[in-house]
Amino acid sequence: MNVPNHVAIILDGNGRWAKSKGMPRNYGHVRGAKNLEVICEDAWNLGIKYLTVYLFSTENWKRPSDEVDALMKLFRRYTKTCVKTARDNNMKVRVLGDPSALAPDLQASLRELVETSKDNTGLNFQIAINYGSRDEIIRAVRKVAEDCMEGRRSPGTITEELFSGYLDTAEVPDPDLLIRTSGELRLSNYLLWQLAYTEFYFTEVPWPAFNKEELIKAIEKYNGRARRYGGVIE
Ligand code: IPE
Ligand code: IPE
Ligand code: MG
Repeated sequence: MNVPNHVAIILDGNGRWAKSKGMPRNYGHVRGAKNLEVICEDAWNLGIKYLTVYLFSTENWKRPSDEVDALMKLFRRYTKTCVKTARDNNMKVRVLGDPSALAPDLQASLRELVETSKDNTGLNFQIAINYGSRDEIIRAVRKVAEDCMEGRRSPGTITEELFSGYLDTAEVPDPDLLIRTSGELRLSNYLLWQLAYTEFYFTEVPWPAFNKEELIKAIEKYNGRARRYGGVIE
């Protein structure tokens, strides 16, 4: 089996999964967060080197405030636990998105997570939180414009490669495989630049029920595709 170097996931369907069990949406989020820890280990054991997951979009602030509050509480707990799992499993964690809208204590925990894991050599794990691809591109454009205005760069020298370095995913290769769980067939503002030549895999399985077998199924499908650009399947 040819394992993709970088897998990006839109982990969707926590709410519907919980509802189908007669439980509140937040139960789905709690189980979804637990599942993420398991899938990180599975991904590494299968040979995946980069895993990027969508935890909270710039649009998710529009959800009812009690759900947003519950999610933020969960992220606080998740981030603290992740400091330990990153240490135990040698994971290097990066954060994508604009942290400035998050509570200061959560921002601090995320910084600690990135800082304490930066020399680890195992799974490269990117968490997208308050992430929106259009927002990321606009933030990058502002930085490029500033560099030009202050004479550090001239517009003619801006290439695709250089621009990629201004994105939150600088240093991270483009995803080879994108997985979206729970049946929606859209990108919801995820990695629009980075997914230019990525293979897409959609499954009806909701995130809390997505397991190693489902991940293997996605990789097998990916193996059956002939890729034109952006990656080589031998
Ligand atoms: C994904 O599950 C988790 C987040 C977006 C935070 P959802 O909360 O979107 O669950 P559904 O799609 O409503 O079932
Ligand atoms: C996308 O899922 C964002 C995350 C998984 C964090 P949503 O459930 O928020 O997306 P839409 O609203 O269905 O497009
Ligand atoms: Mg959803």
